[in-house]
Amino acid sequence: MTLYCIRSFDKAVDATSFCCGQPLLDEYIRRYASQDVRRNVARVFMATPEGDSRYLAGFFTLSAGSVGCSELPESLAKKLPRYPVPVALIGRLAVDAEFQGKGLGSILLADACQKVANASTMLAVAGIVVDAKDAASASFYQHFGFMPLPGQPARLLLPATAFCA
Ligand SMILES: CC(C)(COP(=O)(O)OP(=O)(O)OC[C@H]1O[C@@H](n2cnc3c(N)ncnc32)[C@H](O)[C@@H]1OP(=O)(O)O)[C@@H](O)C(=O)NCCC(=O)NCCS
Repeated sequence: MTLYCIRSFDKAVDATSFCCGQPLLDEYIRRYASQDVRRNVARVFMATPEGDSRYLAGFFTLSAGSVGCSELPESLAKKLPRYPVPVALIGRLAVDAEFQGKGLGSILLADACQKVANASTMLAVAGIVVDAKDAASASFYQHFGFMPLPGQPARLLLPATAFCA
């Protein structure tokens, strides 16, 4: 079983050959991720296989966001205030094709949820939102309990009660 090291964006990690099957995500990690980190609009986390700290196997991004009450499923909205509520946003999450289907996607998602749970002791969030790039990735997130927002099938939410103690 491959073990991974997950750490904050690191220019020493080689993203040039990263290929996940979604060209926009490949281009993001190669060209735009460092700018987002520098401008404080996203934190980027990279996974490298143990023993090869320069090979990019996968990554995800975390940012702050908000969701309007009217966008939420009724079951959740009725427990929340009527104004927009704070959420954490997994803007992007991707695994290199060579590593797909071996558990890394679930490791990255679990790590993202843990990081948000830790941060939420200082900065409250009502949940985690993801923007799925296509139906297959929406189905990946649903597999882990994310629910599509009504009328926005590509935008899914995991309520804080699912990952916060
Ligand atoms: C979606 C993606 C992140 C999944 O990563 P992965 O490493 O292949 O996934 P894993 O091997 O960790 O799979 C974890 C679980 O999710 C399930 N799964 C994986 N892809 C799935 C899908 N499209 N639909 C439903 N379930 C899926 C697996 O069967 C597995 O289930 P199990 O834990 O019960 O065995 C990866 O395929 C990828 O990077 N795709 C291209 C980029 C993308 O679409 N990113 C998401 C949107 S930003």
